[in-house]
This record gives sequence, C-alpha cells and structure tokens, in this order.
Amino acid sequence: MQQNLSFLDVIKQHIAAGNIVLPVLSSAAMRIQQELVKKEPDMRVVENLISQDQSLASQVLQIANSAFYHGLVEVMTIRAAIVRLGMQEVGRITLLAATKNQFRSKNKEHNSIMHKLWQHSVGCALGVQWLSKRCKFDELRGHAFFAGLFHDVGKLFVLMVIEQMKEKNAHIPITHALLMEAMTVLHTQQGYNLMKQWNLPEDYCVIARDHHSKDFDSKNILLLLVRLSNMACIRLGIGVEQDPSLVLSATEEAHQLNLSEIDLAELEVLLEDTAILAG
Ligand SMILES: [Fe+2]
Ligand SMILES: [Fe+2]
Repeated sequence: MQQNLSFLDVIKQHIAAGNIVLPVLSSAAMRIQQELVKKEPDMRVVENLISQDQSLASQVLQIANSAFYHGLVEVMTIRAAIVRLGMQEVGRITLLAATKNQFRSKNKEHNSIMHKLWQHSVGCALGVQWLSKRCKFDELRGHAFFAGLFHDVGKLFVLMVIEQMKEKNAHIPITHALLMEAMTVLHTQQGYNLMKQWNLPEDYCVIARDHHSKDFDSKNILLLLVRLSNMACIRLGIGVEQDPSLVLSATEEAHQLNLSEIDLAELEVLLEDTAILAG
C-alpha cells in the first residue's frame, strides 16, 4: 500500500482500475421486478420465471410458508402461493430469495457483516413497503420493496472489493473499524455507480446515492420512504449500526410523510418481526 494514500483512496483506486469482479444482480430478480412495476402484471410470467429455477422456487415456497406469513395451510406450488399471498407479495418474496445468495462470504468476519447487511436490507424493504401502503402511495407499490432492498447495495459492494483486495494481498492491514468506515464513507457513491452499471432506473440509483445526504429532494417520496425506514432500522439495531436515541417523529421525513407517533410505533413492531424472515 502506498504510504501517502489513505485506505479509502486505495479502495477507490482499486475500483477505478477496473479489476473488480462486479456482483451480479440475479436476472430472475430483474425480470420479476420489471413485471411487478407494470400496470397489469401477468401472473403467468411471474409464475414461469420462478418455476423455471428449481432452487429459487423451493426457496420461495419456504419463505411463503414461514411464520412471517402466518401460513395455516402449507402451499406446495408457486401457483398456490400466488393465489394465497397475491402476485405482488410472491414477487417480493422472489426478490428476497434471488438476492439472498449475494450476501455470503467465505471469510468469517465478512460473512457475519453480510448477514447483518442482509437483515438490514430485508427490514428496510419491508418497512418501505409498509410505509408506502400506510401513506397510500399506490403508484409506488411496485417500486417500494426493491428500492428498500437495494438502497445499501454499495456497502455489499465495498465489502466485496475489500475481500478481493485481501485475496490478492493477504498482508493488507485492515481492522474491523477501518472496514466499517470504508463501507460507511464509500457506499452511497459506489452504490450509485454500481446501479448505473446494472442499468437500473435513475430513481433507484438516486436513492442509493442520497439516502444519507443532508441535502436531498424532499419531494422525492420514494427517497423519503427509504430514508425513514432506514432510520427506523438503525434505531432498532437491524443491521450493522444501532442508535436507539434516534427520534423518528422528530425527523423531516416523518413530518413530510405526515406520519403519527402511532404509525411510527407500528412500523417498529413490523420491523422487529422481519427478523423471522431474515434470520
Ligand atoms: Fe446507507
Ligand atoms: Fe441503510
């Protein structure tokens, strides 16, 4: 490592040099998402996309039958899951199942961080979903979950970059604190760049970039929802950060979204339940 460069600069250089293997966004997840945002999604398309991939289908059924969905009767087929839970819900479950494998590492320390990142992503996604319904933003229905699930994808990316750097040079001295700092400082811009490379719509890229910014577009409803859900997760310690002193009702986001103390308390109850899904 060059002595006059900070660790963050070294990571940025490494990324800029283009010798990083990019994480892949599951093509099934992408196609499901494209179907979900349509005005009239086609159930057969969703069903076929899931059923084509046996391991994905079995993971979807496992989640659909989990305690989170209070299944009284076990569903054995994707079609039965769609009938019971609805196509949008099964679509979201598929996004979860298809994305989960990205959050795994052979490195023990990284794996434990990734697991927390996963819990945070799931919590945030379900929180955004719930908030969009509570605030009656029906037009955001197909976007809310996806936006929450991927808002911190930059953290996963930075962690993968560090892992690849370590594989090339096992002697790079990286403490846990340095690793967390790198993720915190770099994840918004790197998440934005990654989503651009994935050719995702600008709305999602902006959320990856601006979900912590002090200066942000307070008219961007989807961004407001993600910011609030993200803060609620941090308040409850769902993820790598925890700050119980965060007062959600005092945030500009809660104010803009016109949410009451009761709404926010309900959001927290829902988020605590998400541990069942992301455990
Ligand atoms: Fe973040
Ligand atoms: Fe976050």
